[in-house]
Amino acid sequence: MSQASFPAMRMRRGRSAPWIRDMLAEHRLHPSDLIWPLFICEGEGQEEPIATLPGVSRWSVDRLADKAREARDLGIPCIALFPNTPADLRSEDAREALNPDNLICRAIRAIKDKVPEVGVMTDVALDPYTAHGHDGLTDERGNVMNDRTVAVLVQQAMVQAKAGADIVAPSDMMDGRIGAIRQGLETADCPDVAIMAYAAKYASAFYGPFRDAVGSRGLLKGDKRGYQMDPANGAEALREVALDLAEGADMVMVKPGLPYLDVVARVKDAFGVPTFAYQVSGEYAMIEAAAAAGAGERDALVLETLMAFKRAGATGVLTYHAPLAARLIG
Ligand code: PBG
Repeated sequence: MSQASFPAMRMRRGRSAPWIRDMLAEHRLHPSDLIWPLFICEGEGQEEPIATLPGVSRWSVDRLADKAREARDLGIPCIALFPNTPADLRSEDAREALNPDNLICRAIRAIKDKVPEVGVMTDVALDPYTAHGHDGLTDERGNVMNDRTVAVLVQQAMVQAKAGADIVAPSDMMDGRIGAIRQGLETADCPDVAIMAYAAKYASAFYGPFRDAVGSRGLLKGDKRGYQMDPANGAEALREVALDLAEGADMVMVKPGLPYLDVVARVKDAFGVPTFAYQVSGEYAMIEAAAAAGAGERDALVLETLMAFKRAGATGVLTYHAPLAARLIG
């Protein structure tokens, strides 16, 4: 790159007033960049606040349509649903995940019935349904068994697709699940259901509040390093993405978000496919804590972090701040 040097070139000319800053902006945030994750609970008329995720609640199915309407009215194209399964329905074999009348399926149907124009994405993983909090089925030593888990995930994805999910999003990090789920969706006569693969999902300390929200934190035995990625690895993320794309993923995701912006940028540069980032629960909680402590201004922190995802090349961002951000941008 060649350019004039000082004083012929003064970079501050481009920053001298709002109109020229606007005109020269390389990236822009739009509500359609956002996917809003929502937690669901049993009951009627329920709102259950989540202590470690201040400002975020679980909603009962009858109140969920209002959230979907809020998303639609704000221009947020898609919501991502996560159930808090009642304790007595969690088991070693996660069978509740395959119940066509389980919490998530009832939630999907309610939204598709009342607010069909909002996209519904569902999580494919067994952690909201297992008694031990892992994303898959475990052997006697507590190790998550890959192929047996994949067989259940395929059934889970088919059940969610049949209930009306538009996008299924496997977040389990088993090998070979994308291809198996793609095939399952064809078999279930759901060829139009898309797959967003949590392709590069790291074993992260930033998931704590989410585990509170779905009720798996206290149950989790050990950690998830046997299937989620090592934060030390970047090149490995490219191999994960390549595999998921070859198996039929329509979109890929990097997770967590901000600490992994380098991975977002590498994935987008290498593959040029729709690439999403998940600004996860611990990241949300950090921003809220900083704002509450007077260390930073919430709105500015939210918009700056979201813009950083766009700059890194993200197609869109899953964020609990989606409604706030959409209002600020809107
Ligand atoms: C589990 C799942 C997790 C998140 C999304 N799906 C947690 C985990 O892997 O333990 C985390 C999202 C967040 O922290 O906001 N299948």
